[in-house]
Amino acid sequence: MKICVIGTGYVGLVVGTCFAESGNTVVCVDIDEAKIEGLKNGIIPIYEPGLKELILRNAEEGRLSFTTDLASAIKSSLLQFIAVGTPPGEDGSADLNHVLGVAREIGRHMESFKIVVDKSTVPVGTADKVRAAIRQELDSRNVDIEFDVVSNPEFLKEGAAIDDFMRPDRVVIGADNVRTAEIMKELYAPFMRKSNRIIVMDVLSAEMTKYAANAMLAVKISFMNQIANLCELLEADVAAVREGIGSDSRIGYDFLFPGAGYGGSCFPKDVKALVRTAAESNYDFVLLKAVEEVNERQKLVLPRKVISYFGGDGKALPLQGKRIAMWGLSFKPRTDDMREAPSIVIINALLEAGAQVSAHDPVAIKEARKIFGDRISYSSNEYEILRDADALLIVTEWNEYRNPDFERIAELLNKPVIFDGRNLYDPRRMKFIGFEYFAIGRNGKHFTTERA
Ligand SMILES: NC(=O)c1ccc[n+]([C@@H]2O[C@H](COP(=O)([O-])OP(=O)(O)OC[C@H]3O[C@@H](n4cnc5c(N)ncnc54)[C@H](O)[C@@H]3O)[C@@H](O)[C@H]2O)c1
Repeated sequence: MKICVIGTGYVGLVVGTCFAESGNTVVCVDIDEAKIEGLKNGIIPIYEPGLKELILRNAEEGRLSFTTDLASAIKSSLLQFIAVGTPPGEDGSADLNHVLGVAREIGRHMESFKIVVDKSTVPVGTADKVRAAIRQELDSRNVDIEFDVVSNPEFLKEGAAIDDFMRPDRVVIGADNVRTAEIMKELYAPFMRKSNRIIVMDVLSAEMTKYAANAMLAVKISFMNQIANLCELLEADVAAVREGIGSDSRIGYDFLFPGAGYGGSCFPKDVKALVRTAAESNYDFVLLKAVEEVNERQKLVLPRKVISYFGGDGKALPLQGKRIAMWGLSFKPRTDDMREAPSIVIINALLEAGAQVSAHDPVAIKEARKIFGDRISYSSNEYEILRDADALLIVTEWNEYRNPDFERIAELLNKPVIFDGRNLYDPRRMKFIGFEYFAIGRNGKHFTTERA
């Protein structure tokens, strides 16, 4: 099939590349000229495992191309995937300017039947707005060309995006027209060889499904963070509790790791947008408001532990003269995405408290520099930043931090003390090897058998 993917970010690039990999002819469009120029020359603007190899191969084999010429891309393709950003507006609602701008462009340039696919995460009712925007452009051109608008929300996870797209748990297709639903099913058939996981539903329900999925995951995270905080107060161990409740098949083990709060480009904005959507229908989504508040508080748990450890409570600059080393900047491992990363709040809190911060991350330093500039220092070597630091903070659970050289850490730090926002280590072992170890909700009595 001939496909045009508009927006070459974390979603558009993966979607376009994976469709090319299954034999389709894909043209990826972006307004960012530098990005497109780079892609034409094999420079991939984001870090996503396995993506570069796939892009290079499909481009070389002629199935994948990049352009800023939206008009030609629209004309030459049957399917128009809208994968532009939907950032939160002032009031928390999803900003649809990019999506509707693209819809108008489609209406301006289409010359034959098109299937317009909302791939971006958009509020319930957006397909109608996209339809109206296209229709308005066609009317002003005085032409009547048939088109369909489909909702096909994306569930990929950054860091595992290729695998998620190639072997999805499910593909949701919201279509009000049987013929179009069949074309969409055909497009996704190569990814369904083991079993059919395509769920076809009406457009409004498909739009809602994406928000409900992200909101549910955010609920789980905030719930477990509160359980962990309470465990700490009651001297219970959240790792034991997680095993105890996860073994209930109605609950399951996934997404029950407490930590430094959720971040990224999706959960924070999608939770906000759903609260806003509810408010527009005069419905008070109290549960999600609480989830958001819990998450904001959770990001401050780690810096508060550091301040209280150094005894600076109540002082204007409680961490003055302290050097803090930080492992992990990206909002989660295997991505360079810094959008809404808890590390941002944590670093700001440490800097405000007077600390000096040096950070390591395997891939996100370039992105982090755009946020912090030279307010903190960086190193591509995780041990280098430990020299003469007063404590190590772990903020992102990159694999390379899971089994580090503890002897070397102890040697380099002024004093062997670790604040672990991701519960990577066994508190009993840490005590045994001479560390002061502060995790989230652990009492050190539970011998951990945690599943990954
Ligand atoms: N990142 C994720 O993990 C993820 C997962 C599922 C769904 N989503 C959703 O997918 C959408 C895109 O997310 P993303 O993370 O890929 O965003 P992104 O910011 O990485 O990429 C968006 C791209 O769209 C381009 N763009 C903006 N306006 C344009 C226009 N008029 N014409 C052409 N290109 C334009 C931008 O230049 C940018 O390259 C969002 O709605 C997001 O909520 C994201």
